[in-house]
Amino acid sequence: MLKIDNLTVSVQDKVILKDFSLEIDDGNIVALMGPNGIGKSTICKVLMGDSNYHVDKGSITYNGEDLLKMDVVTRSRKGIYLVSQNPVEIPGVSNADMLRSALECRTGEHVNFFEFNKEITALCKKLNIPPSFIHRGINEDMSGGEKKKNELLQLYILKPKFIILDELDSGLDVDSLKDLALSLKEYLSDDISLLIITHHNSILEYLVPDKVCILSDGKIIKSGDYRLALEIEKNGFRSISVSEEVIHE
Ligand SMILES: Nc1ncnc2c1ncn2[C@@H]1O[C@H](COP(=O)(O)OP(=O)(O)OP(=O)(O)O)[C@@H](O)[C@H]1O
Ligand SMILES: [Mg+2]
Repeated sequence: MLKIDNLTVSVQDKVILKDFSLEIDDGNIVALMGPNGIGKSTICKVLMGDSNYHVDKGSITYNGEDLLKMDVVTRSRKGIYLVSQNPVEIPGVSNADMLRSALECRTGEHVNFFEFNKEITALCKKLNIPPSFIHRGINEDMSGGEKKKNELLQLYILKPKFIILDELDSGLDVDSLKDLALSLKEYLSDDISLLIITHHNSILEYLVPDKVCILSDGKIIKSGDYRLALEIEKNGFRSISVSEEVIHE
C-alpha cells in the first residue's frame, strides 16, 4: 500500500528525516516508535502533504502512485486519514456541517441528511460521545481525550483506507483507549492499513502490530515484531544505540 524510499525531509532548513524508508503492506499494522522530537509527527505531516515540511530527496508511493505529486484533497480522497497528535480547534464550523461537506467532496455524491444524522448518532453512541458534540465547532472547547474521540468519529464517517494514528493514546483514559482501539480493530480489514505512532504499549495490546519500527537519527534503525515494543518499554530507547548497525529482524 505504502512505500517510502530514502526520504530526506527538512523543516525551516533543519533536516529531520534522512534516508528514511518504510513499507506498509495492505492490511498491515505498523507501529513507529522513537524518542520525543525525533521526527515521528514529521513523517505524518509529510504523508498528509503539509507544505511546511520539505521533501529534499526520496519518494513515496501510495498504491502504485506518486504520493508527493498529490495535493492534500487528493490524498484524502484516496483514503489517507491522519488522527493528529494535537487536533486543531475550528470554532464556528460545526462537526456535522464539515463532515457532511467532506463526505460529499469525498464521494462526489449528495449525502442524504436523515441517513447522515442516523449514522452519526449511532457513531456517537458507539464512541461514547454526547450527541451534542456533532453540532459544536470542530474540537471546540473539547478536552484532550474528547478531541481524540471526535477525530475517530470523523474517521468512521469518511471511511479511510490508510490510517495514521499520531499518539491517539495520549490524553485518553484507560477505558476510552480500550473502547477506541477495539472499535478500530473492528473497522480494520485486509485492504486497510494502519500506522500507529505511540510511546506506550497499551494501544498495541489491542491493535497488535505486524511490525514495530524504531526511529532514530532520521531513519528506522531497528525493526522487529511486537516483542520489540515490549523490549523498549522495559529497557528504553537508550538500550538501542544510534550507531548500531541497522537491524531489521
Ligand atoms: N513546523 C515546525 N517548525 C519548526 N520545527 C519543527 C516543526 N515541526 C517539527 N519541528 C521540529 O522537528 C523535530 C521533530 O519534530 P516531531 O514533531 O516530528 O517529533 P516527534 O518525534 O513527533 O516528537 P514527540 O514524540 O514529542 O511527538 C523537532 O525538533 C521539532 O522541533
Ligand atoms: Mg509527535
